[in-house]
Amino acid sequence: MTLASLDAHIAALDVADGLKSVLTVAARTCAEISDVVAGGALAGALGASGQINVQDEEQKKLDVMTNDRLTQALLACPAVAGVASEEMDEVQPASNTAGDYLVLFDPLDGSSNIDINASVGTIVSVLKSPTPTPTEADFMQAGRNQVAALYALYGPQTMLVLTTGQGVRGFTLSSDGEWILTHDAIAVSKDTKEFAINMSNLRHWSEPVQTYVGDLLKGADGPRGKNFNMRWVAAMVADVHRILMRGGVFFYPWDRREPNKPGKLRLMYEGNPMAFLIEQAGGKATTDGVEAILDIQPEHLHQRIPVALGSANEIDAFASA
Ligand code: AHG
Ligand code: MN
Ligand code: MN
Repeated sequence: MTLASLDAHIAALDVADGLKSVLTVAARTCAEISDVVAGGALAGALGASGQINVQDEEQKKLDVMTNDRLTQALLACPAVAGVASEEMDEVQPASNTAGDYLVLFDPLDGSSNIDINASVGTIVSVLKSPTPTPTEADFMQAGRNQVAALYALYGPQTMLVLTTGQGVRGFTLSSDGEWILTHDAIAVSKDTKEFAINMSNLRHWSEPVQTYVGDLLKGADGPRGKNFNMRWVAAMVADVHRILMRGGVFFYPWDRREPNKPGKLRLMYEGNPMAFLIEQAGGKATTDGVEAILDIQPEHLHQRIPVALGSANEIDAFASA
């Protein structure tokens, strides 16, 4: 039996050739990153870089390495008009002027997991470019405009999960370095008994979020009438992957420590691509249980948002808490 490869899947997609080449380049670069991640200390991949990024976060060596690789590979692809990254202050237009696509990425998601040999990932969002010579304003498109979103999860297996707006498929990286289709028609279950949230922040959340989570913790004896399990990988890619595989809900809410900061996660590099994947798999992706992440008109490239996504009925329960 011949197993379907990502290359064959991309070739058969009903999308423009330019988008096919963007996806091929992104997937190839993620496969290369997987090797570096797997090499760990042997590949010089652990530890801090000594630099601070535009988010005011300390960059790890792997944040810098993965950002450089993705930036170089994508800007060398003739179909790419420009890139933007969580790790770069400004958008980078391509030097060619024939590109049709803007690519936005979180090159290394879950940075705090690198040095402890736990799962990390890469998240990629693709938009059409309104012009071959884009500026930052051209990137400010609602997530609903995305033409593709994918993530790579560097875990016990390296996987790539992709949508181009026609469902969600998962590919596993083989020992030959080829992405093989292993998960077809991925769907998020409507109901769940599993939630993901960083509980250490409980006292800082708004009252409704505290009430909702408090009800989950009361289990079968509380108003929800069932016991809930909790998981938190501290890498959104891994938490979202678990939700795509077996359902669940993921929250990173606003908290009162920095009232003017809407949340921790970034709309353009984390919220939008994950929302596209979750919606395509039949789940809901919102800021507050109601407002769809994909409908937000971005105001800043590095804008942050609160996130509540996953199994549809549980997101509805969150909305009515
Ligand atoms: P990044 O490594 O790209 O900065 O993203 C980390 C994000 C996300 O992946 C994860 O869900 C969350 O931060 C973890 O936050 P806490 O450390 O507050 O748990
Ligand atoms: Mn991230
Ligand atoms: Mn990151």
